[in-house]
Amino acid sequence: MVTPYQFSRQKFVATGYTLLISLLFFIFYSPHGILFNKKPPNFKIASSRSLREISVRSRHVQRVNNSSTEFVAKLTECNVEIGQRMEDSAHNIINATANVTSEWSIVKEEFTFPAGSAPFNSCHASTIVETEKDSFLVAYFGGSMEGAPDVKIWLQRYSDGCWHTPQVADQQDEVPMWNPVLFQLPSRELLLFYKIGQEVQKWSGAMKRSLDGGITWSEREQLPPGILGPIKNKPFLVEDGRLLCGSSVESWNSWGAWLEVTKDAGRTWRKYGPIYIKGETLGVIQPVPYLTANGTIRVLLRSFETIGHVCMADSVDGGVTWSYVHETELPNPNSGIDGVKMKDGRVLLAYNTYSRGTLKVAVSLDDGDSWNEVMTLEDTEGMEYSYPAVIQTMDELIHITYTYNRTHIKHVVLQPSGIVRL
Ligand SMILES: *[C@@H]1O[C@H](CO)[C@@H](O)[C@H](O)[C@H]1NC(C)=O
Ligand SMILES: *[C@@H]1O[C@H](CO)[C@@H](O)[C@H](O)[C@H]1NC(C)=O
Ligand SMILES: *[C@@H]1O[C@H](CO)[C@@H](O)[C@H](O)[C@H]1NC(C)=O
Ligand SMILES: *[C@@H]1O[C@H](CO)[C@@H](O)[C@H](O)[C@H]1NC(C)=O
Ligand SMILES: *[C@@H]1O[C@H](CO)[C@@H](O)[C@H](O)[C@H]1NC(C)=O
Ligand SMILES: *[C@@H]1O[C@H](CO)[C@@H](O)[C@H](O)[C@H]1NC(C)=O
Repeated sequence: MVTPYQFSRQKFVATGYTLLISLLFFIFYSPHGILFNKKPPNFKIASSRSLREISVRSRHVQRVNNSSTEFVAKLTECNVEIGQRMEDSAHNIINATANVTSEWSIVKEEFTFPAGSAPFNSCHASTIVETEKDSFLVAYFGGSMEGAPDVKIWLQRYSDGCWHTPQVADQQDEVPMWNPVLFQLPSRELLLFYKIGQEVQKWSGAMKRSLDGGITWSEREQLPPGILGPIKNKPFLVEDGRLLCGSSVESWNSWGAWLEVTKDAGRTWRKYGPIYIKGETLGVIQPVPYLTANGTIRVLLRSFETIGHVCMADSVDGGVTWSYVHETELPNPNSGIDGVKMKDGRVLLAYNTYSRGTLKVAVSLDDGDSWNEVMTLEDTEGMEYSYPAVIQTMDELIHITYTYNRTHIKHVVLQPSGIVRL
């Protein structure tokens, strides 16, 4: 029995200040083509830099002050009325900001299940995929605690405006499961990758497939020896049909990343790497792969504490050979990141800064060479908001799921700023 419920909260705060500035920009800059230009804009031009500054200056107005506390309070309130659906006013936001926005705003935030309702104590490492318009699947691992023998892979469906109850996607007696990753191919075949093993150093890659949008799933397939599949973040599909999966290894005193590539939906594999920091044994893991405007394949990476920054590496030959890894300007406290190459060419990254208590969003207009922080999603000392999973949906909104203090998966929907609409 599936119990649908949903609640949503959204806030749109348009101060006279931001509207005035936005209007000024609309008047001054639109003749230069940012808003009307059909070609990809040149990101280096002065007008986009100015717009960026505005976006940064006013970003704090888009979020209530101590939102986490208030959010939890609201959730409790809403859960009293399970089943009630609240109208999503995303349309109003889109409407109101149609031609003048320079803001990133939160359209919706919610938990995927109500407090106390889940058949597990602890959950982590979520992944999200849009199966069709306004329908999503989320998967994560859950059990008594990370690494416990009872940890299973769970799936939750969002459809008809509701999150449905968690269902077991796979389990193995006495062996924990880890880090699911969902991806939908253009054929609409859904892939669910995950890992099985007593510990991270010993896990093996596995997958299941669904041909009906995630309602039924194939038997488990074990990936070939040494192939772990996408280790935390969704793969990137290139035009030639190759699925680029960012993989990594955390073995004794040795951390590094690999690119695992499949042309046939996970049936055969090639593996390229290692992608690592020259001279560092404990380096980088959990790549976020994407294609840059000039055809370079780039990965963004989580790094070990001693490095402390989001890192990056490039391949100019389609992923076969890799540069050494170097640091970006973004901080990273040895914690999972995820990003997406947006349809308009921007790259968005969700990441923790100095601890897992702070979760931010940054955007790059130059494929990751430089970054602008656009939003703070969470900021509470002592809490854990980690392992973001990020997608851009058909309607161009950004959906992020992440671990909420290990007890919930939180789902946040963002309206991108309108500065680089094509
Ligand atoms: C946020 O809350 C703190 C503590 O209540 C308060 O000091 C601060 O002024 C508030 N900030 C804003 C922007 O409302
Ligand atoms: C945060 O929000 C809650 C609920 O709205 C309120 O009761 C509390 O006083 C606020 N705390 C701070 C520090 O502003
Ligand atoms: C935009 O606003 C207009 C007027 O308020 C309304 O009629 C229309 O339905 C809105 N459009 C959307 C997509 O919400
Ligand atoms: C926004 O711009 C589009 C075309 O650029 C125009 O058709 C529409 O009327 C504008 N909307 C508002 C609210 O100004
Ligand atoms: C390709 O684009 C990336 C990202 O903007 C940049 O760092 C790199 O220098 C470019 N490579 C060439 C050969 O232009
Ligand atoms: C968050 O998790 C920490 C560590 O388990 C726990 O001490 C704390 O009470 C939790 N906070 C909330 C609000 O659930």
